[in-house]
Amino acid sequence: MCGIVGAVSHRDVVADLVEGLRRLEYRGYDSAGVAILNDGNIQNRRAVGKVAKLADLIKEQPLTGTTGVAHTRWATHGVPAERNAHPHRSGEDVVVVHNGIIENHAELRDSLKADGYTFQSETDTEVIAHLLARHLKSGLSLEASVKAAREELVGAYGMAAISPHEPDVMVVARAGSPLVIGIADDEHLIASDVFALLPITQRFIFLEEGDVAVLSRKTIAIFDSENNAVVRDEKFSEVSAENTEKGHYEHYMLKEIYEQPAVIAETLEGRIYKGRLLEESFGHTATELFDKTKNIHIIACGTSYHAGLVAKYWLEEIGIPCHVEVASEYRYRQVVVPEGTLFISVSQSGETADTLAALRAGKGAKYLGCLTVCNVPESSLVRESDVAVMTRAGKEIGVASTKAFTTQLVALRLITIALARRQGMNQDQEKALVEELHALPRQVEVVLELADEIKAMAASFADKQNALFLGRGTFYPIAMEGALKLKEISYIHAEAYAAGELKHGPLALVDEIMPVVCALPDDPLLEKVLSNLQEVRARGGELFLFSDKKVKIPLDKYQDLKLDDICPSTAPIVYSIPLQLLSYFVALEKGTDVDQPRNLAKSVTVE
Ligand code: AGP
Repeated sequence: MCGIVGAVSHRDVVADLVEGLRRLEYRGYDSAGVAILNDGNIQNRRAVGKVAKLADLIKEQPLTGTTGVAHTRWATHGVPAERNAHPHRSGEDVVVVHNGIIENHAELRDSLKADGYTFQSETDTEVIAHLLARHLKSGLSLEASVKAAREELVGAYGMAAISPHEPDVMVVARAGSPLVIGIADDEHLIASDVFALLPITQRFIFLEEGDVAVLSRKTIAIFDSENNAVVRDEKFSEVSAENTEKGHYEHYMLKEIYEQPAVIAETLEGRIYKGRLLEESFGHTATELFDKTKNIHIIACGTSYHAGLVAKYWLEEIGIPCHVEVASEYRYRQVVVPEGTLFISVSQSGETADTLAALRAGKGAKYLGCLTVCNVPESSLVRESDVAVMTRAGKEIGVASTKAFTTQLVALRLITIALARRQGMNQDQEKALVEELHALPRQVEVVLELADEIKAMAASFADKQNALFLGRGTFYPIAMEGALKLKEISYIHAEAYAAGELKHGPLALVDEIMPVVCALPDDPLLEKVLSNLQEVRARGGELFLFSDKKVKIPLDKYQDLKLDDICPSTAPIVYSIPLQLLSYFVALEKGTDVDQPRNLAKSVTVE
């Protein structure tokens, strides 16, 4: 979950390394640092807090150099403190940056201490630096040292090492954490994510599991886990640096909320046409898998898990049994896989450690095949799955997922339609469902126009300590997602309940100061939900509702926002938007860090 950047170049790279960190800050923002090789020495600057703090420090104490590595940290081993900030060095021999977790760090630390190495930090990363130094001292090159260390390190890592003994070389390794090489004129760069390097290049090589790469300004040599020299294809990224800026929006999250009509349309592009699902767009393998699918297991984390829960309602409605589970539980238990089961992972980043581990476990089980719904084409999940249905949300930078969620729902809806065909859905029924998807971008646009009213609602929310979100059917996972958004960015304790569960316990929490948020679409469960809301009102609970224009609300007191003409099959997607905006405006009122909320990181690449 940390971000790493590095460069070997003919020019001073410090400013680009810091800019790369700024662009990777979504991965972690407890502390940041840069190390540069300069005249046979290692020079570094490290600062606690965001990358801006590091940039200030470099202004006060400038650095220059043509070979360097940099890091932005999400603390795992050791508190956020300068001594624990990367890069970590071993004297004047070597300096490293690392993303991931070294599981056998304690025993390596003991063995290195016994050899006289002293540790400055509590991090697992510092053992890598000393391990490399021990190999360098035994006469190995930096390349051979990294390869030797690869045999000793247990755990997940993406790492980069540089040494004053070989000032024009950088050696990187990938095992479980993403690492990409950027190719530019007379220089090579590395990063945890292409995003860091987009202002410099759009030409990339994605390292594979177990790879070690040796980079100089002009050359790249890659070795696989068996130490065979290999060639990895160069890819051109379609994403440009400009597309990933905040523009006139105050926060990335707000920009991403407003991008939803466009990215939903993009996710539908080429996949529906004249009331038909264009199933060929999923590819031949997908069609073959769908033909054999009798059951589905959906595995994901966080917001992506909520998307999976919505899909469960959709899939079981067409008669396909569906089990949905968080990846961190799934990966460590015995799972029964009925014959004809398709494994589906859902992930924005495609790099979430638990989801990736679940996929790998799934590949060893008797599934028909593994499909991923993912937003990052170059990600590990996409590369390791049999089929990828891409959400086309574009880069999502705000830690709180918004457009990735709604496009995941769109992709899952398309998959549901493909499977419904096999369950006997006729052409008219298909046409109706496809038309509802087609209408979706415009419906989302209309809801976005209600932002000012939602902002006004949020004003009476900001002083709350707790909140309950209620829903039934597909609106139960939407309530879960609404509660997650609120707690994530406003730090208000929020819980979601299936509305029918209220009287089985949580009703005890309801009093005059408890806000209760609920979506009220015009669906067959409406009366049931209204009865649950009566129960809330009878205890004085304060209601914040988002309801269909047709719905009459027989309650004495509530705040309500009316939504118009929402189609039944896509209603969960549309009703997510006001909940996102509510959380955003509450966070704004509270003055929290919307895009980078405390203790979190965008891409959870550690367990
Ligand atoms: C959502 O707002 C979160 N920040 C988080 O729950 C996220 O959805 C989760 O970590 C899964 O990430 P992924 O979709 O990239 O796998």
